[in-house]
Amino acid sequence: MKDDLIKKLNNQFENKSAKEVLEYFLDKYKNRIALSSSLSAEDQAITEMIARIDKTAGIFTLDTGRMFPEIYDLIQKTNSRYKINIKVYFPDARQVEKMVNQKGINLFYESTENRELCCRIRKTEPLNKALKGLSVWITGMRREQSMTRREKNLIEWDDQNNLIKLNPLYNWSEQQVWDYIEENNIPYNKLHKEGFPSIGCQPCTRAVKPGEDIRAGRWWWEMPEYKECGLHQK
Ligand code: ADX
Ligand code: SF4
Repeated sequence: MKDDLIKKLNNQFENKSAKEVLEYFLDKYKNRIALSSSLSAEDQAITEMIARIDKTAGIFTLDTGRMFPEIYDLIQKTNSRYKINIKVYFPDARQVEKMVNQKGINLFYESTENRELCCRIRKTEPLNKALKGLSVWITGMRREQSMTRREKNLIEWDDQNNLIKLNPLYNWSEQQVWDYIEENNIPYNKLHKEGFPSIGCQPCTRAVKPGEDIRAGRWWWEMPEYKECGLHQK
């Protein structure tokens, strides 16, 4: 039943632009729709489109406590530029305290299990809180980003969170994202120009060499097939 509905929606919007798709969903699901933004180039492009359509639409970010300083500056700059208010979610302080004191401040380098625990406490649980009550979750994911994302569609059903997941830039190339950013003078993270195409938490992200995979600098010590942090299960 859900599969049929999702298939129908994908067919309906197949030839529409990202902006048209956002216009439709922001109107139809008013107050029950939000963009999760990591302040990536993709999320910044979507933020600009959303701000043009409805400045009161939900946009939130998950502050894990281990972000690059550039992210905080960009949150501030983006809010002032578009006169919006990106909502910031934090992890549960007690859980972080327990984890860090039991397993070490940089536990994630020691095992995939530790890394997943940290991602769960610092990212996934706050995400679940942020998604509560929503019907549509907008993300900046693209097919080209990694082998785990090749099958992504514009509209998906998220079983875990029981809502529609909307990926308006699912079929955009990296070049298209940057052209859009430049044409519209959208503020972006300067680290992107210093070898960081994909940016997550500071200790788990490093610069990539020319020609390397976009996400090669994320959890670089792990195998590519494990490189999802639990935010996105499929
Ligand atoms: S991750 O799962 O590996 O961290 P990635 O950095 O590629 O994901 O981002 C994919 C999408 O996940 C982003 O476009 C955004 O919608 C969401 N996302 C990732 N990190 C965050 C964050 N810290 N806060 C809010 N949304 C995020
Ligand atoms: Fe923790 Fe690294 Fe995951 Fe951030 S990306 S939540 S620091 S393991």
